[in-house]
Amino acid sequence: MAAVLLGLLLFAMQSPLVPSRPMADEGPPPPSTSSPTDNGTTSHPNGTLQQLPQIIIIGVRKGGTRALIEMLSLHSTVAAAQNEVHFFDWESHFQKGLPWYLSQMPYAFPDQLTVEKTPAYFTSSKVPKRIHHMNRDIKLLLILRDPTERVLSDYTQVFYNRLQKHKRYQPIESVLVKDGEINLGYKALNRSLYYVHMQNWLQYFPLGSIHVVDGDELIRDPFPEMKKVERFLKLEPQINASNFYFNKTKGFYCLRDHGRERCLHDSKGRAHPHVAPAILQKLYQFFHEPNKKFFELVGRTFNWK
Ligand SMILES: *[C@@H]1O[C@H](CO)[C@@H](O)[C@H](O)[C@H]1NC(C)=O
Ligand SMILES: *[C@@H]1O[C@H](CO)[C@@H](O)[C@H](O)[C@H]1NC(C)=O
Ligand SMILES: *[C@@H]1O[C@H](CO)[C@@H](O)[C@H](O)[C@H]1NC(C)=O
Ligand SMILES: *[C@@H]1O[C@H](CO)[C@@H](O)[C@H](O)[C@H]1NC(C)=O
Ligand SMILES: *[C@@H]1O[C@H](CO)[C@@H](O)[C@H](O)[C@H]1NC(C)=O
Repeated sequence: MAAVLLGLLLFAMQSPLVPSRPMADEGPPPPSTSSPTDNGTTSHPNGTLQQLPQIIIIGVRKGGTRALIEMLSLHSTVAAAQNEVHFFDWESHFQKGLPWYLSQMPYAFPDQLTVEKTPAYFTSSKVPKRIHHMNRDIKLLLILRDPTERVLSDYTQVFYNRLQKHKRYQPIESVLVKDGEINLGYKALNRSLYYVHMQNWLQYFPLGSIHVVDGDELIRDPFPEMKKVERFLKLEPQINASNFYFNKTKGFYCLRDHGRERCLHDSKGRAHPHVAPAILQKLYQFFHEPNKKFFELVGRTFNWK
């Protein structure tokens, strides 16, 4: 239950006229008596069970993973974990083993597919091998944005976190550039070198197991991107255009789910810091070759500057 409540906090509920608790439809909560078993599932008297995910959203950080998992949840046969589980990338979690991982999964009906998202998986080099070891046939979703935009967004998040904690922060120019050159030691920059990380995944999974979602398109026009995701996951076509509506005040799409309207939390639409045009230009240039390498790896191009 705590997981569900935490998940709800991530949303600004937009429709005060509608009772705003999705779980309220299901009647009084049944007693929670189940505990993980070691056979890969945990069943509950109400007919639901916890299962290891058949789908994982692996990243990228600031790519739009929250939007993607919420949109995927529009589908009735998808059960999504509310929290980022960090099982395969955090040693302290990984050491607890698969029973612990299973215990983090949502209760789902047997015909549903379970999905979790942890954006840090994509850029963590030990993760592909570990996921492959759990399930070599798993379906992976990777949502990417223009790598320069992603760096700025990454910086912005860290910046706001530090601001809130009254900690010192470095201006963006001084982390991006060192001695007049792009600072390769800046981690956020590395996370945007998509081909470096993709090579690592392709050592364990065929390209056909990894669907790349265009995060810029998902924000601009979510419906067509979600149709592609449905097709990749071989889900019955269910998500439709009326599940999305544009909020002019916010400047992005919100979701309509069984008459209930919800938008992503405001922090998802935060403005980026101003960056000197010359530095921005340098960044775009810097990513030109890495992007080309990524396009070659995945056999398709993206509309990145
Ligand atoms: C079934 O039980 C689980 C565990 O208590 C609960 O989380 C879930 O919401 C229940 N689902 C339904 C449809 O009642
Ligand atoms: C797993 O074990 C539970 C409890 O022993 C049982 O109810 C369930 O049917 C088992 N599931 C499978 C898939 O074997
Ligand atoms: C970028 O990240 C990858 C994967 O974690 C690592 O192998 C590589 O050394 C990093 N590159 C730089 C320049 O830090
Ligand atoms: C779209 O999906 C909703 C349920 O999510 C359904 O009520 C509606 O009839 C569908 N609209 C179309 C045009 O298929
Ligand atoms: C649109 O966004 C504004 C600003 O966040 C919000 O106040 C309003 O309730 C939203 N409207 C709808 C229909 O989602």
